[in-house]
Amino acid sequence: MKNEMLKEAKKVIENAYVPYSKFRVAAVLKLKNGETISGINVENAAYGLTNCAERTALFTAYARGIRKEDIESILVYTDKDYLVSPCGSCRQVMRELMDEDAEVTMANSKNEMKTVKNHELLPLGFSKEDL
Ligand code: THU
Repeated sequence: MKNEMLKEAKKVIENAYVPYSKFRVAAVLKLKNGETISGINVENAAYGLTNCAERTALFTAYARGIRKEDIESILVYTDKDYLVSPCGSCRQVMRELMDEDAEVTMANSKNEMKTVKNHELLPLGFSKEDL
């Protein structure tokens, strides 16, 4: 299953729009019904407007009416030979838009993978329960 997600990530990373950092990232969501939804990072000349791959994938899913209970896992892929872990903004968004037990897998060009639970990435995070 993770291998199929990795294969899709390797394909879709070609669409990353990264003229500034040249750092390509792809994210693939696996839904409980077996479907996948992917995203890539999209940069902007106003650097702070950059959207990470994880958020592109999640926002695409939500735009299609998919909700946290429909999402099984996310795989975050970079074409580096080391593993890259999601940034703080993406952790915050994943906390809200995915189940706390959803799996987050980091993967690299050597096909190495590390999987953690969503809740492990943002201990003591802010959430809607704090409002
Ligand atoms: N990036 C992601 O897409 N996901 C992350 O979790 C970390 C950072 C992107 C943003 C930017 O386009 C590039 O990687 C370098 O920071």
